[in-house]
Amino acid sequence: MLQAYHGKKVLLVGGLGFIGSTLAHPLVELGAQVRILDNFQPDHGANWHNIGDIRDKVEVHVTDLRDQYALRQLIQDQDVIFNIAAQTSHSDSMVNPFEDLDINCRGNLILLEACRHFNPTARVVFVGTRAYYGSPEQTPVPENSPMHPRDIYSIHRYAAERYHFIYHLHYGLPVTALRISNIYGPYAQMAHPRYNVLNFFVRLALENRPIQIYGEGHQLRDYVYAADAAEALLLAGVHPDALGQVFNVGSGAGVPFRTLAETIVELAGQSRCEFVPWPEGALSYDVGDFIMDTTALHQTLGWQAQTSIREGLAQTIAFYRQHHPHYW
Ligand SMILES: NC(=O)c1ccc[n+]([C@@H]2O[C@H](COP(=O)([O-])OP(=O)(O)OC[C@H]3O[C@@H](n4cnc5c(N)ncnc54)[C@H](O)[C@@H]3O)[C@@H](O)[C@H]2O)c1
Repeated sequence: MLQAYHGKKVLLVGGLGFIGSTLAHPLVELGAQVRILDNFQPDHGANWHNIGDIRDKVEVHVTDLRDQYALRQLIQDQDVIFNIAAQTSHSDSMVNPFEDLDINCRGNLILLEACRHFNPTARVVFVGTRAYYGSPEQTPVPENSPMHPRDIYSIHRYAAERYHFIYHLHYGLPVTALRISNIYGPYAQMAHPRYNVLNFFVRLALENRPIQIYGEGHQLRDYVYAADAAEALLLAGVHPDALGQVFNVGSGAGVPFRTLAETIVELAGQSRCEFVPWPEGALSYDVGDFIMDTTALHQTLGWQAQTSIREGLAQTIAFYRQHHPHYW
């Protein structure tokens, strides 16, 4: 199925970041013509090193998703558009809700309007998050679960997902949306822990600094290795049965948060875990246990996560051991 990418023109919006560059590598290998649009949003994951080994095989445009004139040029001849760019910090969205609104809502409307007017047949894959579900009423969490977003970011990202289906309903845009669970792997930013605390733990371990866990760390999380998730995204961009659908992307298994931290410490061979009381205000962001139901993705696209948490963490640690000067 993924051979269909050979010769296809693929635009990665937000493609210099973690998930975007994880996608860029297999796309180049599959023979796609990859174009990247990214504005180097401050404090986010854009990093030239993420595409250092494929720099001469991809076309990069440093521009903003909200620049409608640039966007209409850049989308025009594309076959598949992965819409990955976002303001990604839950905490920043609470501090600066208007910037979150501007990128995560207005920015997505600008992209969809450009598609509607200038390239209505391009397949659009919207890369979203488990955060819409908030604190789930039951686990595993299927796609039709009630939404209980717990911060501004989650509401805006969910609105952006729904915009895509409005454009599908009224204008027939061929869209697919994905909701990704806790994702980890190479190419993620490590400068701060304001999003993706999991990758930041790898940095702490490699720097021999303690990993602090709030409370007991018994809450279950669904960790998915980025290269596995990338394969699901790629299938979503070409599989005919993915059209108009929304899929959870996760491992489908629950791992206690403390086990994850302890595994990082063990594999890094240094550092330690420290259990501390929840800081004031932090508990209101915790969603409790969260495991994704990935049945739909498995049954429709034939995908399931392949990489064990140990294997994925070992690969992540090895990557950052070698490349950390580019990340912190
Ligand atoms: N990393 C996670 O833990 C995680 C988990 C679930 C879902 N997601 C979703 O995946 C998506 C991407 O996350 P990521 O981890 O790759 O983040 P990232 O910060 O590494 O990548 C996002 C990229 O988008 C770019 N960008 C941001 N605003 C832009 C704009 N206005 N114009 C152009 N480019 C812009 C940034 O410069 C960055 O390179 C987000 O939508 C996020 O909600 C991430």
